[in-house]
Order: sequence, then C-alpha cells, then structure tokens
Amino acid sequence: MSDEMIQKSLVLLKPDAIQRGLVGTIIERFEQAGLKIVGMKMQWVDKNFAKKHYAAHVNKKFYKGLENFITSGPVVAIAIEGILAVDVIRKIVGPTEPGKAMPGTIRGDFAHHAYEYADKKGIAIKNLIHASDSVESAKAELELWFNKNEIHSYKTVHEMHVF
Ligand code: PPS
Repeated sequence: MSDEMIQKSLVLLKPDAIQRGLVGTIIERFEQAGLKIVGMKMQWVDKNFAKKHYAAHVNKKFYKGLENFITSGPVVAIAIEGILAVDVIRKIVGPTEPGKAMPGTIRGDFAHHAYEYADKKGIAIKNLIHASDSVESAKAELELWFNKNEIHSYKTVHEMHVF
C-alpha cells in the first residue's frame, strides 16, 4: 500500500450533533469502519473562525444561516486517519441535503432538516457533520483546527495484527 493511500481528514460534529447527544453514535460509525481517531477536541466557533473554515462559501446566499448555526453551540473537531479516509468518510456521512442522504449514512439516518424548506425560509439546514471534501482541503482544515502536537501517531490492533 502506498503512503498516499493513508489519508487524514477533518470531521466536525456540528452543534446539532452535540445538542442531540449523537457524539458517541457518530464516532462509533467511523471506528466501526476501521478509521482511526488521531486528534479530538471540543471548541466554540466564533464568527471570525467560521469565516476562515468556510472561506469558500462566505459569499454564498446560505452563508449567514450557516454561520449562525455553526456558532450557536460548541462543536467537536476530530482528525481521522485511514485508508483513503477522505472519500470513505464522505461516503459514511452522506450528501449535504438530508433529504438526499440514503439510510445507512449518518445524515440519512439522523439529519431530518428538510433542505428545500430550510433554504426557502432562509434558515440553516442542520446536517450534523462536516467532512473535508478533498485531500488538499483536509490538509488546510487540519492545520486550521489543530496544532501539530494535537495530532497523534499510534497503531491500532488492525495495523498490528491484521495487516
Ligand atoms: S456548494 O455551493 O455546493 O459548494 O455548497 P455545499 O458543498 O453543498 O455546502 C457547503 C457548506 O455549506 C453548508 N450548507 C448549508 N448550511 C446551512 N444551511 C444551508 N442552506 C446550507 N447550504 C449549504 C453545507 O452543509 C456545507 O457545509 P459542511 O459543514 O461542509 O457540511
């Protein structure tokens, strides 16, 4: 297996995930898929930090609602490592719009905010989770959220006994 296949990604459990008590349930999905948690913290995002994290979206019409939502309560930031982790995590999470997310995905199983309804009313969709969308954005997002010494290196039992 080449080194490029081992990737790190950033997952954020958004305020609705914390407030609904879904932190353990969501983390379990990633652990069960064989992905490894290499960093984790709870943080309250302010508007400046939100603008940095969502820099690509600040001019979009949904941004104000997204910013209000992401700053409305603490989030849990998780650095996750694994084989082709960026795409694998996005598959486990499911698409942005809860109504399009299939059962079995985190958003399909737990996100119940109708995108069409929310968007038309100018309110934020509450889709529980953020996951980096490419290896490049994962790298930039991990640098924004974590100091180097907050990302840990260790071997899982799978690495020690299976591979
Ligand atoms: S785009 O325009 O296709 O690039 O946008 P998309 O990738 O679908 O979404 C980018 C992030 O904005 C969030 N989003 C929203 N949040 C709240 N309300 C509304 N209406 C809304 N539309 C998009 C979306 O969930 C993405 O954030 P993350 O945290 O990555 O999920």
